[in-house]
This record gives sequence, C-alpha cells and structure tokens, in this order.
Amino acid sequence: MNNKEKVKNLIDLRAQAKLGGGEKRIASQHAKGKFTARERIDMLLDEGSFEELDMFVTHRCNNFGLEKEKYLGDGVVTGHGTIDGRTVYVFAQDFTVFGGSLSETMAQKICKVMDMAMKNGCPVIGINDSGGARIQEGVTSLAGYAEIFERNILASGVIPQISAIFGPCAGGAVYSPALTDFIMMTEDNSYMFVTGPKVVKSVTGEDISTEDLGGADVHAGKSGVAHFKVENEEEGVLLIRKVLSYLPQNNLEDAPLVECSDPIDRLEDSLNEMIPDNPNHPYDMKKVIHTIVDDEEFVEVHRNYARNIIVGFARFNGVSTGIVANQPNFLAGVLDCDASRKAARFVRFCDAFNIPILTLVDVPGFLPGSGQEYAGIIAHGAKLLFAYGEATVPKVTVTLRKSYGGAHDVMSCKQLRGDFNYAWPTAEIAVMGAAGAIEVLEGRTLASINDQEEKAKFLAEKVAEYNDAFANPYQAAAYGYIDDVIEPRNTRFRVIRAFQALQTKKVVNPLKKHSNIPL
Ligand code: HXC
Repeated sequence: MNNKEKVKNLIDLRAQAKLGGGEKRIASQHAKGKFTARERIDMLLDEGSFEELDMFVTHRCNNFGLEKEKYLGDGVVTGHGTIDGRTVYVFAQDFTVFGGSLSETMAQKICKVMDMAMKNGCPVIGINDSGGARIQEGVTSLAGYAEIFERNILASGVIPQISAIFGPCAGGAVYSPALTDFIMMTEDNSYMFVTGPKVVKSVTGEDISTEDLGGADVHAGKSGVAHFKVENEEEGVLLIRKVLSYLPQNNLEDAPLVECSDPIDRLEDSLNEMIPDNPNHPYDMKKVIHTIVDDEEFVEVHRNYARNIIVGFARFNGVSTGIVANQPNFLAGVLDCDASRKAARFVRFCDAFNIPILTLVDVPGFLPGSGQEYAGIIAHGAKLLFAYGEATVPKVTVTLRKSYGGAHDVMSCKQLRGDFNYAWPTAEIAVMGAAGAIEVLEGRTLASINDQEEKAKFLAEKVAEYNDAFANPYQAAAYGYIDDVIEPRNTRFRVIRAFQALQTKKVVNPLKKHSNIPL
C-alpha cells in the first residue's frame, strides 16, 4: 500500500467500525425502537465533541468458531466528550455486535475509560444494552465484569457514575449499574434482573413476564433499583445532561454555579396559607419545593418509589442543593423502610459530592407495625440517621408542621449537626402526637371514667393542654434546638441566607478506615 492507499484504508476501516455488527442488525435495532450505541452517544454529548477510543479493538476468542467473526470495536463504543462544555467519559454497549455481550476485550475498553475518568476527575456514563456475559468466552468474560465492578467501587464517591439501561441488562451484569450513583431505565425496551423469566419458572415455578419481573415500572416503582424512568431514549439522554448540571465533576470540586435571575428575597404569600388548619389534612410538599427554589425547577430522583419522601436537586441563588422532604400527601409523610433507604442514599450522595442539603420536615413518625419491624425498620431508619449525622456538607432544616418522636431526630435535627434549623409557626415538635400521648399519660384516668360524654370532654381538655404545650415550635426554640421561627412566605430568602453563611463550612469527621453504616 502506498501512503495514499494507507489513508484510504484508514477511512475504510473507520467506516467499517462505525457499522458495528452491520446494516442488517442496525436496522433490527431501529425496528425495536432503539438507537445504536453511536447514535446514543451523539445525542448525549455536546455536538461534535465525541472522541472515540479503541475503535480497532477486536475480541481474541477462538471458541465456537468465533475467530471467524470479528467486528471492529467489539461490542462497545467508548471515549470522551463534553456535556455543557464539561468533559465526561462514556461507554455504550453495542447490541449489534454479539448482542452487546461482554467479552474480555470489551471489558478492557470499558475499564480504560473508567480509569481515564478517575485520573481526570470526570463523570462516567455507561449506556447498557447487552445480552450479558459473552457465552463463547466463558470465565474471561466473568473476570471482565469483576474488573468493571472493582472500578465502579473505587470510583464511588470520587466521580459521579450514571447508568442508562436502554435494553437488556441481566444476570451479574446488573451489578455494575447497581454500583453506580444513578440508574435510568426506558419505559418499553429496558429490563434488569438477576435471573430471567425462564430460570424463574424452572426454579420456583413462577410464571412471570420480562416486564413484570424487571421492567422500568418495577424498578422505578417497586424495588427502587432505578432512580429515573423515562419514556424514551431521547428523554433519557436529556435527563442525564440535566442531572449532571447539578453535580460537580468530582468529589474535590463544587457543582457549577448558575446565574440566578429569580430574586432571592421573593416573598410567596401562598406559603402562609399552605398548612391546613386540621393537622390531619394533607398538602402537597412539592408545591412548597417548587415555590421556594430558583425558577421552580426541581429534578426529582426516585419519583415513583417511596413517595412518602421526596428527594431531588434544585438550586438556591444558583447553588446546586439536594432537597429531602417528607410528603404529607402520601402515607401522611410517614418514614418507613423504603423511604428511609431512599433518603439515606440521597443524603450520602450529596455529602460525597459537596452538595448542600435542605431538609423540609413534616413527619408524623415511623410507620408502626409488624410489617415494618419484620422488614427491619430499625436498621433502615438507622441508615437515614447515620447518613444525616455523618454528613459534613451545609445542612439547613425547615420544619413545616409535624416533627414527632424518633423521626424528629432523624430528619436532620440540630443535634445531628444540622447547621440552621428553622421552623414555621405551624410546626409541632414533640415526642408524639397529642392523641397517642394522652393515651399513655392518662390511660388509667380515662379507663376509670364510665360516662362517655365526660370521657370525651376530659380527653379534649387534655389534648388541648398537650397541644398548647407541644404542638408548636416554641419549646424547641426556647432550647435553641430551633434557631428561628420564620414566616413561611419568607422561606426562600431565609434558606438562601442560611446557605450563604455556610459557604465556608469546614467539618471533618474523625479519622477512620471507613464507617460501618447499618447496611
Ligand atoms: C454471545 C449473544 C449473547 C451472549 C445475545 N447474543 N446474547 N452472543 N453471548 N450472552 C447474540 C445472539 O446470538 C444474536 O447474534 C445477537 O446477540 C442478538 O441476540 P438475539 O437473541 O437475536 O436478540 P433478542 O431476540 O433481542 O434477545 C436478546 C436477549 C437474548 C434477550 C438478550 O439474546 C438472550 O437471552 N441472550 C442470552 C442472555 C444470557 O443468558 N446471557 C448470559 C447471562 S449470565 P446474531 O449473530 O444472531 O446477531 C451473565 C453472567 C454475568 O451474564 C456475570 C457477571 C458477574
């Protein structure tokens, strides 16, 4: 080949690599309503920013005649590019090559971009669409997975890791996404499970469809494995871009500061009337969130899972902030196992990546009953307690209404190193609600009153007495556990001022190898 031919050869090889498993398989991918690996990367990254690596890698397997079937790039497209001008590393499994199944060389390609992401302190985004371990390769494929897992683990808390599931993700392959910070699934084409429907049927006899076993609804709503469910891939990549805009590049940086045109002292009169007079009536905490954050913009994480607690990202005066809030509109905002786990993981994520946390409290307590006790509410509740108590980022808490019992302590109270703890005048901070308290304190007297009318009168008096004493924020404020009782309509301003005063916060936990959070 002369030099001109060599250049032509390169161009041809690149064109060949870009076809992955070939036009027929690309057409079949499109027919399923899915994009190819390269199309996905192009949609995800800033236009023209993608630099591909390892395009000429091929597998080295000689089993089952595989040596006769090689594709340039071997089942995964890897490289780097930018999102909103910031560098990210990406890998996208290419279903058109052996169903995106993982070979030894494919694992090496993925590990290479993960190592580069770590070295450079940049997020890594993985797009999963794969039939799992490449069956013809045997143990080298399993080893490849473990190489990836180890990197996921070491990168955890150092660089943000986001997984998009845009196709199958089954068997042990699920554990790489599971080790990352956020998992996103598309509504119709994605599924995740440790064992598929056929194995389930043969082992347990259970008849279940792929969708019902591990579809997006299952993981975004029931198991909580997925943090985001999106309608389609286009929506998915846009959401990944959006989520990243709230995150720093790595644990040594702060999230980008965004210019804010929303006045910081914006008063919202509607908040003064947000809390219903009847303490048992619900209201929508999301309304409160939208009202106080910059430009009403809130990116909710785990929207369909454990809806009694809300977690997500917003900005205050342009500063990225994690919000954790009880939702009185769902199960009265009670803390249960799922809600505790959901919030604990989010608090730890924010703390790992220097994102301040705002906690909005309206919690009647922990959900009582054998169901929760058997499910381990003690351990799960402790996770949230641990996460808040360990977190060193700026923490501002606003108690809107109920803050009872153990749940009061858990929800970022003063003694868990809450930096600024405010309350609305409608706050009720006590050991328990009035009805329960009177049952305990006056049980004997109540039992001795036979006349029902008299009993009701006595009960009402005692409840009123208890509410006067405890169903307010002033007892807590008298002890300094609440730093100020604020007018609800001024919440945005007070929260922003509090975070401004915490910008230089420095707290270091005692030196240790690592903590032993009650997993
Ligand atoms: C090699 C594979 C493959 C695999 C799919 N292909 N999975 N090749 N190893 N694991 C190939 C097919 O042979 C086919 O090749 C092409 O990919 C597309 O596959 P189809 O079956 O035609 O596609 P579709 O009908 O969409 O079905 C997709 C699928 C199915 C549901 C993923 O392919 C499937 O069940 N694959 C096997 C899944 C599996 O059991 N994997 C191992 C799990 S154990 P051609 O040449 O026809 O295009 C595991 C352990 C990991 O992963 C442990 C980590 C610790």
